[in-house]
Amino acid sequence: MTDARFTTNNVGIPVASDDHSLTAGPNGPILLQDHYLIEKNAQFNRERVPERVVHAKGGGAFGFLEVTEDVSQYTKAALFQPGVKTEALTRFSTVAGELGSPDTWRDPRGFAIKFYTSEGNYDLVGNNTPVFFLRDPIKFPDFIRSQKRRADNGRRDHDQQWDFWTLQPETAHQVTWLMGDRGIPKTWRHQNGYGSHTYLWENAGGEKFWVKYHFKTDQGIDFLTSGEAATLAGENADHHIADLWDAIVAGDHPSWTLYVQVMPYEDAADYRFNPFDLTKVWPHGDYPLIKVGRLVLDRNPENYFAQIEQSAFEPTNLVPGIGPSPDKMLLGRMFSYPDAHRYRIGANYAQLPVNQPKSPVNSYSKDGAMRYSNPGDPVYAPNSYGGPHADARKAGETSAAFGVTDEIVRSAYRLHAEDDDFGQAGTMVRSVLNDDQRARLVANVQGHLSNGVSKPVLERALQYWRNVDKGLGDKIAAAFDGS
Ligand code: NDP
Ligand code: HEM
Repeated sequence: MTDARFTTNNVGIPVASDDHSLTAGPNGPILLQDHYLIEKNAQFNRERVPERVVHAKGGGAFGFLEVTEDVSQYTKAALFQPGVKTEALTRFSTVAGELGSPDTWRDPRGFAIKFYTSEGNYDLVGNNTPVFFLRDPIKFPDFIRSQKRRADNGRRDHDQQWDFWTLQPETAHQVTWLMGDRGIPKTWRHQNGYGSHTYLWENAGGEKFWVKYHFKTDQGIDFLTSGEAATLAGENADHHIADLWDAIVAGDHPSWTLYVQVMPYEDAADYRFNPFDLTKVWPHGDYPLIKVGRLVLDRNPENYFAQIEQSAFEPTNLVPGIGPSPDKMLLGRMFSYPDAHRYRIGANYAQLPVNQPKSPVNSYSKDGAMRYSNPGDPVYAPNSYGGPHADARKAGETSAAFGVTDEIVRSAYRLHAEDDDFGQAGTMVRSVLNDDQRARLVANVQGHLSNGVSKPVLERALQYWRNVDKGLGDKIAAAFDGS
C-alpha cells in the first residue's frame, strides 16, 4: 500500500520528485519518458471548464429547507409537505461579470437553489428580483450581448446597454429595480430571493394553482451605495463570497423565510394583466404572501470547483406536484440550462456528486464521456426482464392545458386589460421608494448614463424614465443640466 505521505501520479504510482524533471545530466534536455512531468502539466492545462456564459461569478453553500406550515392543499410535492426537511444547495452569482469579476458590480444576483428531495432534484433557479428584463426568450442572447463585452475593444459599454434597454421598453421594471438600492446588495445574506416566474402547483386531489415564490431574508434587506461598491470592487473582488463563508464559519447561519403567492387556476385567464409576464409582479394586495417555511445555509462547500463551479441548476428539474406555467421565458429556459451543462461540464454532468439526487436513479441513460455508473441489462424499455418501467400514477409531469388550443404564431402575449411596459416600474418609484431612495435612484441612473452614452441613446433614455415616471425623468434630465 502506498504511504499517504508520499506523492503518487494519477494512477497511484509513487513519484520520485516534485522538484526536478528527468533530464540527461544536470544541465541536459528534458526526457519525453518523464511521464509525471507531462501528466502534471497536461492536467494543469485542462483545469478549467468553460465558465457559465452568464452568472459566471458566484459562490454558495449547503443547508436545508424546513416546511413549518401546511400548504398541502396547494401542492402534493413531497418537499412542501408539513414538517419535511430537505437538504439544499444555494448558489449566488452576478449575471454579466466573468469569473473573477467583482462581486459588488451593479447587477441582478442569481439565487439558485437545488433541493435534494425524496422524489428527485427540484431546482428553483431564481434571482434576487421578482421580475426580469424580457418577456420572450428569443431576445435573451441579444440582451446578454448588449450587457457583456464589445466585439472591437473587449470592453463593457454603457451605450450598448442603454441602447438595448431603451429599444426594448419591457426592460423598464427590472432596470428601475436594478438602478435602485437593491441593485447592489450589501451581502448575499441581505437580499431576498424570488422564483420570479409563475409556476404550477397541483395538490393530491389533482387541483391546480399558479404560484410565485418569495424568499425573504431574515437578516434584513441592506445595500451598498455605488461609491461603497466601487471601493469594495477594488479592495476585494470576492467580498460577497467571503461574507457568506465567514458567516457560516462563525456559526451565523443565514436564513430566508419562504412565502408563496397562490392564484386560483381559473383567475389567470382574465386577470387584469398577464400573470405569466415575467416583467410583472403580482401585487400583494391581490395575492397575499402565504408562509411555507425556512431556508437555512449552514455548511460551506469542501471544494469550490467540485461543488460550486460544477453545480448544474436547471429549471427543467421539476418534481411531482410542480410544473411550468405558460411563461415563455420559463419555457425557453427549459432548453438552455441542460444544453449549457452538456457543453460546459459534459453529457454526464448529473452523475457528479453535487448534482446527484439523494433518491434512487432508475434511468436507462448510459455510456458517454466520463460515465462511471451505468445501468446493467436490460438497457432498453419496454423489456421482459424486470427493468424499471414508467409509472403514470407517479409521473413527475404536472402540466397545464392553458392556452394550447391556439394556432401557431409568432406574437406578443394576447393582451390583458392592464398589460404595459411602464406601469409597475412607476408604482415602485411613486409608492414603494421613499425620498432618499428616489434621490439615489436619480443619482445612480445619471451616473450610469454619464459614462460613454451617445446623445441619441441618452435622449431615448430620458424619455424612457419619463415614461416610468414623469417627475423622475425630469429629475434625471435636470441632474444632467446641473452636472
Ligand atoms: P407592496 O407594498 O405590497 O409590496 C412592495 C414590495 O416592494 C415589498 O415586497 C418590498 O419588499 C419591496 N420593496 C421595498 N423597497 C424596495 C426597493 N427599494 N426596491 C425593490 N423592492 C422594494 O406593493 P405591491 O405588491 O402592490 O407592489 C408594488 C411594487 O412593489 C411593484 O410594482 C414592484 O415594483 C414592487 N415589488 C413588488 C413585489 C411583489 O411581489 N408584489 C416584490 C418586490 C417588489 P420587502 O418586504 O423586502 O421590503
Ligand atoms: C444561468 C440562460 C433567464 C437565473 C444561466 C445559464 C444560461 C442561462 C445558459 C448558464 C447555465 C450554466 O452554464 O450553468 C437563460 C436564458 C434565459 C434566462 C436563455 C431567458 C430566456 C433567467 C431568469 C432567471 C435566471 C429569468 C431568474 C429568474 C439564472 C441563474 C443562473 C443562470 C440564477 C446561475 C445558476 C447557477 O448558479 O449555476 N442562464 N437564463 N435566468 N440563470 Fe439564466
